[in-house]
Order: sequence, then structure tokens, then C-alpha cells
Amino acid sequence: MAFKAMKVSEKSQHHNNVVLVTGGSSGIGLATAKKFSNSNYTVGIIGRSGYRLELALKELGPQCFGIEADLSRPEAPAIIKKEVQRRALKCSVLVNNAGIYLPKTFAETTHAEWEQILQTNLLGPVRLTHDLLSELQGGAVIINVASTAGLRPIAGMAAYATSKAALISMTQILALELASKKIRVHAVCPGVVDTPIHWNGQEPNKKEKEKLLEQWASWHPLQTYGKPEDVAWAIYQLAQTEAHWMTGVVLPVDGGINLT
Ligand SMILES: NC(=O)c1ccc[n+]([C@@H]2O[C@H](COP(=O)([O-])OP(=O)(O)OC[C@H]3O[C@@H](n4cnc5c(N)ncnc54)[C@H](OP(=O)(O)O)[C@@H]3O)[C@@H](O)[C@H]2O)c1
Repeated sequence: MAFKAMKVSEKSQHHNNVVLVTGGSSGIGLATAKKFSNSNYTVGIIGRSGYRLELALKELGPQCFGIEADLSRPEAPAIIKKEVQRRALKCSVLVNNAGIYLPKTFAETTHAEWEQILQTNLLGPVRLTHDLLSELQGGAVIINVASTAGLRPIAGMAAYATSKAALISMTQILALELASKKIRVHAVCPGVVDTPIHWNGQEPNKKEKEKLLEQWASWHPLQTYGKPEDVAWAIYQLAQTEAHWMTGVVLPVDGGINLT
């Protein structure tokens, strides 16, 4: 289901272009959508829950819209492409951000969980990017949200880290293959960021959360955990035309945790 178009602001500097943010209804994706929306970009946010999309749209400018689609399903790109074409928009920035987390070792992870993680975190971005290539403008930018877990082996998150390592590899291959079209491709690799991804629907109470945040902060050399806005800022900067000579960047945004 797609949400009704709202009036595109006359003042919009970027109204012919659209920034698509998968997982734009929460956490890093929502902060990214806000960052672009506040700079007058038209932002399309994608997620499974229409309710969460509606809540998120209340925080974005009137030029923004939502598309309900499950990226773990092969039919999702067609739904998204149809909506972009219906609105006669060209995509200037694609942020492949939607993802799920699974803190399990290799032995603990079932076949079904491997399937779910790879379908969402890897094949979701693969299929969407592939099918949107024709909708991208020259000079477009694709930004994949990976993780420091994809940069080096970390025990205890086998399927998740594998999905992110593969996403980083896809980013670099795509950067090479799309360079002649002047399409730039990057990956950002966040450290631990305070978002609902960690709670699996069950947020801890205030005291437990404070303890956890303190622990997360201590893992990072800069002694702070990440906020969604920290990652959104990096994504926004990589997408700017001033960064036109940068492609294939794999950027840790991680308080230095990748150095430990
Ligand atoms: N938070 C961290 O510490 C951290 C660290 C490193 C990397 N990351 C990465 O950052 C990205 C964003 O994570 P977050 O922490 O901001 O998580 P989050 O707050 O849980 O947000 C995840 C977003 O993805 C959407 N989503 C999940 N599965 C989807 C699917 N199958 N189809 C469409 N949308 C889907 C969710 O909406 P619906 O549930 O409504 O679909 C939601 O909007 C993820 O790729 C994650 O791996 C996060």
C-alpha cells in the first residue's frame, strides 16, 4: 500500500529528485529521512508496517511519502518502482538501510534464521538496487547501511555479520561497475547505535537501559554509543554533489570501535 501524495512544497529545491530510504520509519533510517527532508528533499520511506510509516511521516516534510513493502520478499522492488514511476520521480539517492539483527552464534542459528537474515539484509538491497537501476539519475548515489560487524569477524552474530560483509562486497563491486555511469556507491558501517533494533520489540525498563547504554559507551574508544543522527549525518554528506570524487567508500561511523 502506498500513502497518498501530499502537496510538494513550492520552495522545494529537490522536488524532481527523490531520496528513497528503506527502513525509514525507525532508528537510523528515520533520522536519515529527517535529515534529507529538512533540506527540502522529497523522501520516500519504505517499511513493512503502514502504521510505523504513518507515524514517521508526521515527523517529515509534506513532500515526503511512504511505501509499504517487505524487502525480504522478491515482489518488493516492483511495488516500489511502480510507486516511484506513478509519482514521475527520478531517484537521486537510494539508502539501503532496512535490516534486522540476530545475536546468535553459527551453531545457534537455524536454517530459517539464515534465510530470513540474508533475504532482508542482503537480498533485499541486491534486488531493490538491481531493479531501480533504470530509475536512477546520472550522478545518483547509493548508500548501503552495513555494520562494523561486516568489517571483521565478531563471534555471536554469525548470520548478521555475514550479511553485512557481503553487503560491503556488493557495495565495492557496484562502485566499480557503475562508475562509468557516474553513479557513486558507498557503505556506512555503524558501531552500536541506540535504536529499537536491539530490543526485538521488548524495550528494557529505564534502569536496565541506562546500564546497557553505559556498557555500549564503554566499548567505543570515544566512550559514547551512537545516536541515529550521527549515522544520518554521514549518509547525508556522502550523498552531496561536493563528494562527487568519492565512490566505493566503506565508512566506519563507530566511535572508533573498529580500531579495537
Ligand atoms: N542500531 C545499531 O546498533 C546498528 C549498528 C550497525 C548497523 N546497523 C544497521 O542499521 C540499519 C538500520 O537499523 P536500526 O538500528 O535503525 O533499526 P530499527 O530502528 O529497528 O529500524 C529498522 C527499519 O527497517 C525496517 N525493516 C526491517 N525489516 C524490513 C523488511 N523486511 N522490509 C522492509 N523494511 C524492513 C523497519 O520497519 P518495519 O519493521 O515496519 O518493516 C524499520 O523501519 C540496519 O541495516 C542495521 O543492521 C544498526
